[in-house]
Amino acid sequence: MPVTHEFWGQAPAGPVTRYMLTNAGGNAVAVLNYGGIIQSIVMDGVELVLGCDDLQGYLEPNPSYGAIVGRYANRIADARFTLDGTTYELVANENGNQLHGGPEGFNGKLWEAEPFTTDTAAGVKLHRRSPDGEMGYPGNLDVTVTYTWNDDNELRMDYAATTDSDTVLNLTNHTYFNIGGTDTVLNQVVQIHADRFTPVDERQLPTGELPIVDGTPFDFRAGKPLGRDIDAAHPQVRAANGFDHNFVIRGSDGSLRECAVVTDPASGRKLRCLTTEPGVQLFTTNFPTGKYRMRGGAPTPTYGGLCLETQHFPDAPNQENFDTPLLKAGETFNSTTVYCFE
Ligand code: BGC
Repeated sequence: MPVTHEFWGQAPAGPVTRYMLTNAGGNAVAVLNYGGIIQSIVMDGVELVLGCDDLQGYLEPNPSYGAIVGRYANRIADARFTLDGTTYELVANENGNQLHGGPEGFNGKLWEAEPFTTDTAAGVKLHRRSPDGEMGYPGNLDVTVTYTWNDDNELRMDYAATTDSDTVLNLTNHTYFNIGGTDTVLNQVVQIHADRFTPVDERQLPTGELPIVDGTPFDFRAGKPLGRDIDAAHPQVRAANGFDHNFVIRGSDGSLRECAVVTDPASGRKLRCLTTEPGVQLFTTNFPTGKYRMRGGAPTPTYGGLCLETQHFPDAPNQENFDTPLLKAGETFNSTTVYCFE
């Protein structure tokens, strides 16, 4: 399967290239070396992800469309954590907390890119070295993210990292899916294999509790249209203006397992998400319409897409109950997430 590439504009840090991964069915995934952004996924002529159609859209404030998020996806309370007796002060970017790796996170960096093909897939391998102290984190960190798009319409994301000093690491991808290609995702049926979730306080930090989803809007076990409970009176839903929560994936043991399925009844299209990670953040694009822009400069509608951000739990380095994703010097971090389109 061929990988083509083209110059896609000039970012302050250098030229941006767009890689087109096209599979045997003619379905294409576009990847930028800027932020490792999944800029487009087109199947049968329908665009299935939110994003922008020029680099400028990504250089302007945007909600991390399609990007690699790191070093630590989601929030770290008071932008600080302690590891091996040393407290690390991170660069804060939201209410005194750090969100998605800080104001200069992985989503805005240029990555070295190496396209490749196999008999049944097209891909691109992205690498960057995050220097010691970047956004406050310890260790020189070498990160590789490999995107592979195969003939079965499966987009695989393999993450690997090494460090020269002990650190914490929580990598994800922030693609906003809309498999219907419609205005909102409210009619799409979402199933999440999770009996528990991590509620948050008024600063959107986990409280540390892991309540069961029974009888709450967070019960996606049987699958339900996203719009059914998005206006629910539940305080967690009201505070977020929708869903913006981490779910505890049932049975997670580090092996690759299905965590969520999204179905669009109108088109019959289906998206399955598999991951080795223990959590998945369902984010339903809860911003007011027009806070951000997308393709053609159009205002991004509230509930215009949904993210399934596979991850370790938010703020885990500061939460006793949560397993912290530690990476020790000399060890290798590995994680895999696959999005399958049917
Ligand atoms: C967070 C949201 C945030 C969004 C855009 C999501 O992962 O959970 O709170 O608004 O990313 O940065």
